[in-house]
Amino acid sequence: MSGVRAVKGTHDILPDEIGPWHRVEDAARRLFGRYGYREIRTPVFEETQLFARGIGAETDIVSKEMYTFDDRDGSSLTLRPEATAGIVRSVIENNLMNTDPAPRVYAIGPMFRRERPQKGRYRQFHQVDAEAFGATAPSIDVEVIELALGFLEACGVAEFELVMNSVGDAKCRPAYVETLRAALRANLGKLSADSQRRTETNPLRVLDSKAPEEQELIAALPRIGDHLCAECRDHFAEVCRQLDLLGVRYRLDHRLVRGLDYYVKTTFEVTSGALGAQNSVLGGGRYDGLVKELGGPDVPGIGFAVGIERLVLAMPAAEPTARCDVYLAVLAPEGRDRALVVQRALRQAGLAVLMDHEGHGLKSQMKRADKLRARVAVLLGADELARGVWTVRNMAASSQEAVEDARLVEHLKEKLNG
Ligand code: HAM
Repeated sequence: MSGVRAVKGTHDILPDEIGPWHRVEDAARRLFGRYGYREIRTPVFEETQLFARGIGAETDIVSKEMYTFDDRDGSSLTLRPEATAGIVRSVIENNLMNTDPAPRVYAIGPMFRRERPQKGRYRQFHQVDAEAFGATAPSIDVEVIELALGFLEACGVAEFELVMNSVGDAKCRPAYVETLRAALRANLGKLSADSQRRTETNPLRVLDSKAPEEQELIAALPRIGDHLCAECRDHFAEVCRQLDLLGVRYRLDHRLVRGLDYYVKTTFEVTSGALGAQNSVLGGGRYDGLVKELGGPDVPGIGFAVGIERLVLAMPAAEPTARCDVYLAVLAPEGRDRALVVQRALRQAGLAVLMDHEGHGLKSQMKRADKLRARVAVLLGADELARGVWTVRNMAASSQEAVEDARLVEHLKEKLNG
């Protein structure tokens, strides 16, 4: 086993780092519940064809980034690269819409994409994902966006930018894609090899290019906003009007096309300046044809996902929290039995208690109590044993008092539980 390391692009979330993760998960449960979302947990692996059909075979995610393997029976399985496709499968398979025509669900968990790892980009990462089915009205888009931003705020992220676009639908987008492709073909010589390839496979993705030499050309390309059908145009105008009404600020970006093919109409991303190159903390949009595409009824959907690693990077650093309320420092071996009884009683009273079992000296035990940020250290040495008391030391104030053994548990409960 010597030298075994975590797989490239994966990372451990260590006990000292878990605080903000709990804050994120608690905020999700609290806030999403208020908007009528209930938690769903779907498997981390699914049949490969779910993602190929759901996300799109020509997307980077499906064509380059999936962890796909053959099961022993020959079926092809894939570790989920995102949550939406699996949730849609589950909603269809379990007929969730029979009992509720507009189910709202959220999920928290790991996703897997074989991307080039860098700060904020991993091969196993985590998302908080929310999906709302069965509603077409623009006000639902607005409510979903409001929830997304409210969630970031509940996590303490103050500075971010909401970026919005409409990518049209099956009626108007195909014609726009052809217009775009024609414009790109006319300039093929000025495009990178990647963009040349995408001109044929998925021209919308060229709009995403960060290559400096392509920026001037891309800025002059036909814009989807000028090619929307009346329905998509009206829908997006109404979404923007309602966002204005609620005082939600956003920037329109005609180049926001997103990396998944299921989107129609509204798409959005939230970026944070705190993040560097991988600055998208949240992405989402409407996917009205997806449920039908995956074999379900023709039911619309809209949702978003937040990358937890990126969210945590954008959150203000939290104060380290205390690991225990009471540290029991037993300095006389004869006191250990009594300490075990006291420890259990204190824990039953709801206090977090740790004690030394190895008979370390006073100095080393006080050092440990300090490290654990214990609120009080309770000492039992030969002198205390002889007097039938414990020394209760307030760690922050460095003050101490003697408390009778019989009163110790009550005393600490009163002092620390209030
Ligand atoms: P996405 O934009 O691919 O959308 O991912 C959403 C978020 O997940 C990103 O904004 C980012 O914070 C995080 N993320 C993505 N890839 C990585 C990575 N390799 N490392 C770290 N974080 C990452 C979706 O996944 C859609 N399913 C969102 C959605 C839900 N649309 C509708 N419903």
